[in-house]
Amino acid sequence: PITDEVFFKSLESDAVILGACGGPKWDNLEFSKKPERALLKLRKELKLFANLRPAICFKQLVDSSTLKPEIVSGLDIMIVRELTGGIYFGEPRGIEPIENNQRKGINTHSYTTEEIQRITRVAFDLAKKRKNKVTSCEKSNVMEAGVLWREEVQALKDKEKEYEKIDLHHMLADNCAMQLLKNPKQFDVILADNLFGDMLSDEAAMLTGSLGLLPSASLGAKDKNGKIRSLYEPVHGSAPDITGKNIANPIATILSLSMALRYSLDLDKEADLLETAVQQVLDDGLRTKDILSPGKKEVSTTDMGDAIVAKLK
Ligand code: IPM
Ligand code: MG
Repeated sequence: PITDEVFFKSLESDAVILGACGGPKWDNLEFSKKPERALLKLRKELKLFANLRPAICFKQLVDSSTLKPEIVSGLDIMIVRELTGGIYFGEPRGIEPIENNQRKGINTHSYTTEEIQRITRVAFDLAKKRKNKVTSCEKSNVMEAGVLWREEVQALKDKEKEYEKIDLHHMLADNCAMQLLKNPKQFDVILADNLFGDMLSDEAAMLTGSLGLLPSASLGAKDKNGKIRSLYEPVHGSAPDITGKNIANPIATILSLSMALRYSLDLDKEADLLETAVQQVLDDGLRTKDILSPGKKEVSTTDMGDAIVAKLK
């Protein structure tokens, strides 16, 4: 869990950058004491309902993907994941004893009109700055909450003139998982709830070759001064199998900082510079182990970081 001290600091911050957390060492801790609870508390208490997860296939790295280069080269998807609702937080939840010495595990998936429409707005607004296409995912074939999701997303588009030009598609989440492998370039913005968004974003990330490259932003609503609360983190987890070996890819975390510069601190120019530095280092052929391919130079975590910093000087 997170200490009060850190939690209050994060409340006062313009942006929070979070390192991946969790690992087998803590797997057997009581649920409320697990490291993941800290992250979920931050998301919930800072009201970070909008999680943006870009999946971009860097041209230098098409060969790192397990998919054929022509399927993934030039890929640029933005996953918009709802982050403070759905089955992650729904009540009732828990594990309870039932008859015959059996137990029952319960989680509740629920969404309201307001929750659906505020995340839909984020997806639509982003799409307007991109290719104007939004694919909204749910399981309306089996879940009532999925039926509502589909209806409310559609209703918002139909109601608001500013979204008139959005090319809106609805897709069942399992089909979306399949289409991401078959023809990922059909997607521009993918809109999904908390759980489907969690899964689809891991899948989309892997299309690009490595989870080690992808940043994410979690944003709240604007307050009365026009400020937003925000948290930035790599999409990848803590990779406990490589802890302490100095081989992890730092790029996802570095690009998370660049998203913070762009979305929270209004420093677009600095964000551009940082992203260019990352591109240049990849152009130079430097690779951490996870994205290594023949003919490229393997470097450690710290070397990669230093090389990127050097490009900024
Ligand atoms: C993610 C992670 C988290 C989630 C875990 C660490 C709680 O998988 O950010 O995608 O499930 O949301
Ligand atoms: Mg995840």
